Amino acid sequence: MTERSFVLYRSETRLTPRSEITRLLVDSARRSNREQALTGFLHHDDGIFFHWLEGDATPLAQMMQRIARDPRHSNLVTLASGPLPARRFPDCPMGYSSQTDYSLLRWLADHSVTVREHAVFATALLSFLEERAGSTGCQSSRSIWRAKASM
Ligand SMILES: Cc1cc2nc3c(=O)[nH]c(=O)nc-3n(C[C@H](O)[C@H](O)[C@H](O)COP(=O)(O)O)c2cc1C
Repeated sequence: MTERSFVLYRSETRLTPRSEITRLLVDSARRSNREQALTGFLHHDDGIFFHWLEGDATPLAQMMQRIARDPRHSNLVTLASGPLPARRFPDCPMGYSSQTDYSLLRWLADHSVTVREHAVFATALLSFLEERAGSTGCQSSRSIWRAKASM
């Protein structure tokens, strides 16, 4: 039996939140994650991706290798990783939100989070992503984009 694990990383990108290219990235990742029973949440904020990805250790490690090679982002830094007793995003093959929904900086300020330690930041980041997943209902990016287009 392979161990269930997670990776939380951040990377830098020139992609624009909610652009067509970003939508294609998220849609295709969602399809592939469903097939491999990977779940998690991607937040896209001011040129930075924050991504929590979880699943069985082997497919997760393979996916992380592919993600690390992806030219659509750079300077990937793993903030936390390890075994995971229970999935944090069981219903999200690939949740997505961006600063246009709620910026991480705003959230940190609203929650009076003082980040002095790496581990505190990783825990705060997970709480933020879980909150975003709750707010977006992990709806498909297509429906988010459609909702935005019809506003
Ligand atoms: C920030 C970011 C997160 C990504 N997350 C996933 C993901 O969770 N699942 C996935 O299948 N692809 C994800 N991708 C896309 C992969 O990097 C890669 O393009 C895709 O798995 C296809 O891999 P391949 O070109 O080696 O076949 C992500 C890309 C970026 C830039």
